[in-house]
Amino acid sequence: MSKREIVTEPDPILRKKSETLEKVDDELRNLLDDMLETMYSAPGIGLAAVQVGVLKRLIVIDISKEKDKKNPLFLINPEIISKSKNTSIYEEGCLSLPGHYAEIERPAECYIKYIDYYGNKKEIKANGLLSTCIQHEVDHLNGILFIDYLSKLKKDMILKKLVKHKKEINKIIL
Ligand code: NI
Repeated sequence: MSKREIVTEPDPILRKKSETLEKVDDELRNLLDDMLETMYSAPGIGLAAVQVGVLKRLIVIDISKEKDKKNPLFLINPEIISKSKNTSIYEEGCLSLPGHYAEIERPAECYIKYIDYYGNKKEIKANGLLSTCIQHEVDHLNGILFIDYLSKLKKDMILKKLVKHKKEINKIIL
């Protein structure tokens, strides 16, 4: 396993649609392992492949609270089949939008199907934090970021700060 660099906004790759995978093999599992290590060390609770620059429909999630009890979830080609009418609000952050958080309202429950780490077809019903997390990550696979749900004013403000932040980082490197 090795850690990969996380792509941050503004980067055009984050706006691209990720591709469906045809097969689950060791190469793919290596990528999933790298994604998990990258997510844990960030730290974060969810990461989509596009966030490490790979446009494939892959997600890793671990919402377990205790650090020594890891419970990773690997989602290959995840599809949200249905969403509940009732909603919940969480303050969301994103590893591709470092330092920014906003309350986002999403369907409280969702039903998803996906392929697991070993290539088996699975279906789960998610609620609470897991539901929000899955929806946030599936958005990434479609080029959507949580700031897209905010008003134009708020979104532009965050984008402006991120651009400024990137320029400052570049100054230090150069
Ligand atoms: Ni994110």
